[in-house]
Amino acid sequence: MGISLLTFCYLVASVTFILGLKMLSDPASARKGNLIAAGGMVIAIIGTIFLYEDNGENLHNYGWIFGGIIIGALAGAFAARKVKMTAMPEMVSLFNGMGGACAALISTSEFHRIGLTTSPAWDVNSMEDGGGSRLLVILLGLIIGSVSFAGSMIAWGKLNGRIRDFTFRGQHLFNIILLLVAISLAGYLLASLSATNFYLFYVVLALALIYGALFVFPIGGADMPVVISLLNSFTGVAAACGGFLYANKAMLTGGILVGAAGTLLTILMCKAMNRSLANVLLGSFGGSPQAATASKDQGSYKEISITDAAMVMAYAHKVMIVPGYGLAVAQAQHACHELEKLLVEKGVEVKYAIHPVAGRMPGHMNVLLAEADVSYDNLLEMDKANEEFPTTDVVLVLGANDVVNPAAKKDPSSPIYGMPILEVELAKSCIVNKRSMKPGYAGIENDLFFQPKTSMLFGDAKKVLQDLIAEIKSL
Ligand code: TAP
Repeated sequence: MGISLLTFCYLVASVTFILGLKMLSDPASARKGNLIAAGGMVIAIIGTIFLYEDNGENLHNYGWIFGGIIIGALAGAFAARKVKMTAMPEMVSLFNGMGGACAALISTSEFHRIGLTTSPAWDVNSMEDGGGSRLLVILLGLIIGSVSFAGSMIAWGKLNGRIRDFTFRGQHLFNIILLLVAISLAGYLLASLSATNFYLFYVVLALALIYGALFVFPIGGADMPVVISLLNSFTGVAAACGGFLYANKAMLTGGILVGAAGTLLTILMCKAMNRSLANVLLGSFGGSPQAATASKDQGSYKEISITDAAMVMAYAHKVMIVPGYGLAVAQAQHACHELEKLLVEKGVEVKYAIHPVAGRMPGHMNVLLAEADVSYDNLLEMDKANEEFPTTDVVLVLGANDVVNPAAKKDPSSPIYGMPILEVELAKSCIVNKRSMKPGYAGIENDLFFQPKTSMLFGDAKKVLQDLIAEIKSL
């Protein structure tokens, strides 16, 4: 009875994960989808704690279990409430690393069970039927989980500026050799595990950790979200290994879904930047934000005052707002929505053009604008927005840079060449708000700022929007 009820719990959980994931694909249902999947996870956890049986015995070490749950839940809730929107990729990376570490710890504890249950201890030949495949899954979970943990920690450190890029000659070759040695040692253990060589398990663990760190070290700062998504898919696969070990269907489904979703997201992000995954992993694209400085002299640009910008927008037929990373930094989403409402009251048609990699994480702009209750109907995806720019009077670029850089289309020597962009220069005029002439995250200059149709409106996005609102109200 206990087992069948537990299987039912896992079935319910698996269904909620799939439903939740489906609902996450639309901003309107994403919040609900998240809650439904989280509810399913609670059912799976409670079911496991009270109904799981090992050799006919239920779990009994409740002090440890609930102690861990309470500490983890408090730390997670606190971090999630405190984190700034712009630091979300860091948190995702940290949490993802914890998932990888869990998978590696599960593998370690299950490996030790082999030592306890074989006679003589650690003898691979005396393992029960299916013991070999169990060991294979343990080693897979160990390697993938450790790579994911170490890589995510480095990505976290790079994103928050605590860890700098670190490269040396021949690093990619060294990394490949390191990984091959780890895999070969795991293969050796699989074939001939014994009391004299079981310590090699820890050598594999150490090599996988070093590989995970070295794999992420040389990757450029601007590519960190792609790397995090890739590591996320690794964690999913490592968790699925745990699902195999415990015949836990919820863990298996959850792991596979995370693995598949992470892989798809990685591919979609690469596609949105028109770069291959190999180029992301081997190239060193975009340094740390601090490293970016303007270099080339591109000529002169023209500035516009708040009063003039307010006039131009208030008397336009159609205004398109292009949000970028700077809008998130300034936390200007509410002011942006207020400006939109004010312009609409004045009879102006206002829409938002959303680039798939604007900001620092997938869906960054959608989440940001949803927070300020901007209607999803007003958000245009890149292709649709590009169709509408020629009929747009004014484009207001708010803290976006790389995603509106024409070099992506025109300059084959540019590191972002080939990345699809929002073609704002097709509109009748363009107002660009940022604080200075400094480049964006890719660290390159933007020819858009020097074009005759473009006017620069310098200042913090929130302050500028508040001033624009005050000015338009007074018209
Ligand atoms: P960026 O190119 O990073 O440009 C943001 C601009 O905002 C900067 O030039 C900065 O100029 C300005 N800014 C910063 N703080 C501001 C503030 N308080 N007020 C006004 N402006 C401010 O942003 P983007 O156009 O959104 O492009 C995103 C970049 O991230 C792309 O290179 C993309 O490839 C990369 N990336 C994103 C993702 C995802 S999934 N989103 C994944 C991988 C890579 P000032 O310093 O002069 O103000």
